[in-house]
Amino acid sequence: MGSVHFAKGAAVVAAVVIGVVGMLSLPLALQAQNNDEAIQQLVTKGFAIAPVPLNLAGKDPNLVGLGSYLVNAVGDCNGCHSSGTPDSLFIYPYLPDGNPYFGQLEKLDPSVYLNGGTNFGAVGTPTGPKGYAGPAIITRNLTPDYTGRAEGGHTLAEFSDIIKNGHDYDHVHPNCTPAQIQAINEGETPICIPTGVIPGTTFNNIPDGSLLQIMPWVTFSHMTDYDIKAIYEYLSAIPCIDNTLVPGPAGDPNELRNQCGPGPIAPAVRADNDNKGPKALRSPRIRVGIGGAVK
Ligand code: HEC
Repeated sequence: MGSVHFAKGAAVVAAVVIGVVGMLSLPLALQAQNNDEAIQQLVTKGFAIAPVPLNLAGKDPNLVGLGSYLVNAVGDCNGCHSSGTPDSLFIYPYLPDGNPYFGQLEKLDPSVYLNGGTNFGAVGTPTGPKGYAGPAIITRNLTPDYTGRAEGGHTLAEFSDIIKNGHDYDHVHPNCTPAQIQAINEGETPICIPTGVIPGTTFNNIPDGSLLQIMPWVTFSHMTDYDIKAIYEYLSAIPCIDNTLVPGPAGDPNELRNQCGPGPIAPAVRADNDNKGPKALRSPRIRVGIGGAVK
C-alpha cells in the first residue's frame, strides 16, 4: 500500500515536473523571439527619433539605433548636454518655434545638439572660506572630435569608465588643496571644490572633485555593457560641433570646446582664474592634430 501511494506520488511529481519543464521551455523560446523583436523596435525607434544626420560608415547600425534610443528617448542626454539655442531662451535646445514646453511641436536645434554648456552652478553649498562654493559645474561637449571617436575623442574603454565610475578624465574641478584654501582666504577664487562642514550646520559637505558631479552616472552605471557600447557608437555617428569660437562661461570654458577639423586647437581664453593651462596641455585625449603637434 505504502509503495503504491509512493508510486502514485512519484507519478504526480513527475507529471508536474514534466508539465513545468514543458511550460518553461516553450515560453523561453518565445521569449527569445520577443526579445529580438523588442530590441529591433528600439533600434527602429532610435533611428526614427535621431534629430541629426548620422554617419554610419564603419558602424554597427544595431548599436547606433539602440544608442539613439537610449540617448534620445531614455537618458535625456541633450536635456543637460546642450548650450541651448542662441535664438531662443538659452536653457532650451529647441528652435524658437519648436518648444514643446510652449505647446509647440518639438523641433530640436541640431546646431546645439549635445554640444555641452548647461551651467548648473556650484556643486556645493558654500563650505569654503568667505562662502566660496567652488566653480560652476558645466556639461561637456558629447559630439565626436576630429579623430571620429565619440565624446571628444574618448575611447570606448574610457567612456565606459566614465559612465560606470564617474571618472573625470579632465580633472576640471579637483578638491581644494591647503594652498588653494589659503588663496581663497586671500580673496582668490581658484577652480577647486572646497569641502567641509557647512557653517551653522553639522552637515559635512564632501563631494569628491575627481568624480563627475550632477551627471547621473550613478544611475547609468547600471546599464549593460552592450547599452554603453550602443551609446558610444551612436555618439560617434552624430555630427561634430566645434565650440572653438564660443566664449566659455566662467568655470571651465575649455571643457566645452571640441576640435572638428585637423590641426592643433588654440587655447581658449578663460573667463576666470586659470590654474590649469589650456586643455591641450592637460587633457590626455587631445594628442596630436593632423599637421602638427598640439601646442
Ligand atoms: C542631469 C543632467 C545630465 C544628464 C541627464 C546627462 N548628463 Fe552627462 N554630464 C552632466 C554634467 C553636469 C557633466 C559634467 C560634470 C562635472 O563637470 O562634474 C556631465 C559629464 C558627462 C561626461 C563626461 C565628459 C568628459 O568630457 O569627460 C559624459 C561622457 C557624459 N556626461 C555623458 C552623458 C550621457 C551619454 C548622457 C545620457 C545617457 C548624459 N551624460 C546625461 C549632466 C548630465
